[in-house]
Amino acid sequence: MKGRNLPAFLAAAGAVLALAVATGGAVAGERQSREHATGPLPDWYPYVASDILKWAQPAAGVWVDLGAGTGGVGLAVATAEHEAAAASAIVLLDPDTRALSQALSRGREQGLENRLVAVEGVAEKMPLLDNSVDLVFSRGSIWFWQDPVEGLREVYRVLRPGGKAMIGGGLGDDYPEWARREFMRRRRGSREADSPQAKEFARRRHPDTMRQWAKDAGLTEFEVTGRGALPADDPRTGSGNWLRFTKQELQ
Ligand SMILES: C[S@@+](CC[C@H](N)C(=O)[O-])C[C@H]1O[C@@H](n2cnc3c(N)ncnc32)[C@H](O)[C@@H]1O
Repeated sequence: MKGRNLPAFLAAAGAVLALAVATGGAVAGERQSREHATGPLPDWYPYVASDILKWAQPAAGVWVDLGAGTGGVGLAVATAEHEAAAASAIVLLDPDTRALSQALSRGREQGLENRLVAVEGVAEKMPLLDNSVDLVFSRGSIWFWQDPVEGLREVYRVLRPGGKAMIGGGLGDDYPEWARREFMRRRRGSREADSPQAKEFARRRHPDTMRQWAKDAGLTEFEVTGRGALPADDPRTGSGNWLRFTKQELQ
């Protein structure tokens, strides 16, 4: 991070794999025409990053990609053309250290410098101080947490008053419609719609489930958004399912 030091708590977190690499570089965000729909689909992470930044309008500071995996969203946010993003440290937090190492390598390839910190941990017990984070974003992860309610309590705990969280999954509002349809077609093709796994997949991803988790976590002000207010095996779904909230300012 240029011109500032990473907060001491991060250095003290114990499980920190720090990364200091070179500057610049935007996420490629490959675009592709519908004629090539058999090949790889356009990268959805820049679209998701754009939605996060558009909604949160976050203050620069410490931002956490929760359940970061190989860093798709975190790197897209880190390299977005956005003033606060360019001035923020991005913490990639995940229990999977191999995925985190890959994320750091990819960060290096993209020429980031001193902006990424990888922390081994789980949502349910984040190795972060109370009121220490300006933004938490998390894509495609909450459905794998052992205890989503406890994870959401933790998100609230680590956020600073006024800090924002956007948690859920999806391809981004502006992801091209043809590619969204193709994505869903391929995903549906990969599992039996009536299987118990598919039903559980759909139940967990239903916005009502997210609403219940948020309520159970004690959140009083939040919104669950997304055009994908449908089970995941419904052919009309695919846009996503997001919980968004702001930690209340101190009175
Ligand atoms: C489907 S991947 C999504 C990765 C990335 N966010 C993305 O959009 O590509 C789900 C990630 O959640 C992580 N995960 C699983 N349980 C978790 C937990 N309890 N807390 C935080 N992350 C968890 C997994 O290790 C995995 O990297």
